[in-house]
Amino acid sequence: MVDVILGLQWGDEGKGKIVDYFARDYDMVARFQGGPNAGHTLYVGDQKVVLHQIPSGIFHESKINLIGNGVVLDPVIFKRECESVAKLGVNYKKNLYISERTHLILPTHRALDKASELSKGQEKIGSTLKGIGPAYMDKTGRNGLRVGDLLDKNFTTQYIKLRLKHQRLLDNFNFQEDISAWEEEFFEALEFLRDFQIVNGEYFINEHIANGKKVLAEGAQGSMLDVDFGTFPFVTSSSTISAGVCSGLGVAPQKIKEVIGITKAYCTRVGSGPFPTELHDETGERIRQAGNEFGSTTGRPRRCGWIDLVALRFACMINGVTQLVMTKADILDGLDELKVCHAYQVNGKETTDVPFQMNRVNLEAMYTTFAGWKTDISGVKGFDGMPAKMKEYIQYLDAYLKVPVQYISNGPGREQIVRVDR
Ligand code: GDP
Ligand code: IMO
Ligand code: MG
Repeated sequence: MVDVILGLQWGDEGKGKIVDYFARDYDMVARFQGGPNAGHTLYVGDQKVVLHQIPSGIFHESKINLIGNGVVLDPVIFKRECESVAKLGVNYKKNLYISERTHLILPTHRALDKASELSKGQEKIGSTLKGIGPAYMDKTGRNGLRVGDLLDKNFTTQYIKLRLKHQRLLDNFNFQEDISAWEEEFFEALEFLRDFQIVNGEYFINEHIANGKKVLAEGAQGSMLDVDFGTFPFVTSSSTISAGVCSGLGVAPQKIKEVIGITKAYCTRVGSGPFPTELHDETGERIRQAGNEFGSTTGRPRRCGWIDLVALRFACMINGVTQLVMTKADILDGLDELKVCHAYQVNGKETTDVPFQMNRVNLEAMYTTFAGWKTDISGVKGFDGMPAKMKEYIQYLDAYLKVPVQYISNGPGREQIVRVDR
């Protein structure tokens, strides 16, 4: 049996914390897509940790963690991350596995990402520049190198061939930076990777499922960044939705049970692209400061706005979300009033559907206003202790989305989460 936890907005919904919290009930945590563009924050005691490649179950000693075939892996970032979790007592040699089909991010992928973004000028995607797009392009273009290839004696020849191809593309971009230092680090990290527990991920996971083990699939990014259903072209290059679990781990759809969707109590986006409920005023700034909305991977300030139920309803639909977790509710504590986007005006016509190209239409968000709860909820331990006004907010979300908000996260700490009683 597989349950899924994924983000329903533009990423950074709090997946790391929520996966870490739920991991106690599972035997395995598996990443199915994305790569080091992800930055998943969790707390081990008072220690803040940001994971980019390693699944967020890694701090539970008895749990298996799997990097699935749908992921793209940067060996350099991965090695560094393993070393830093080892300092916190994690024995990654014991409980971390990588699928042999996982594609590698090469130094030239990172260079190509940078060159491509530079060439786009004002129209840049705002990529994290980790080489994600070029690595997935090589996967679908049938050129990429995979973790399993590392064990092949022809690996270096294959690498040189692909590197030459990349060099021609870089020359076309007139990209001049010297990447030899990156390459040196890369080859060092490959040695580290060769020593790892490299497995056939699909047999590995299916055997565990057949033996009655419980798997938690951990999404990266969010549904509005999905390559098919997000705000294309301002998206990432992978399938971030529940369907991506099947192709990114090799599990059949019937094996998926719960799809747990995470939404912030408001909304953020980092990088370019449409964001209908974005706030450009004092309230937006207040949310950014209170929520410490600065990128976990790049440190960039995140754009902040009100919760967008049109986009959320769409995300619930394409993912088959069975329950919701609302994070960062505590960040709204001080606000006099809150707004919820219940519809869009698209070219003057009201709709509750997400249009094909948000950035090419005249789009305006329409709001319902709620009174703020004006109470510090960060110490609240049970739903009974939540303010009545927050309960009204939750009820409205439940009714609109037709999916229950099952948990409210009221702080970054592992135990700052409240189950909603109905
Ligand atoms: P992810 O990419 O979805 O894992 O999210 P990030 O880690 O990039 O960003 C979420 C940020 O919010 C992190 O700094 C978390 O520690 C923090 N966080 C998560 N849940 C809560 C919450 O309920 N309240 C507050 N105040 N912070 C939270
Ligand atoms: P987590 O897993 C927020 C955004 C980038 C950019 C676009 C494409 O922490 O939620 P890419 O590097 O994938 O080519 O960038 O997607 N982006 C994220 N935004 N959280 C993330 O991951 C993101 N990963 C990518 O900012 O707009
Ligand atoms: Mg993040």
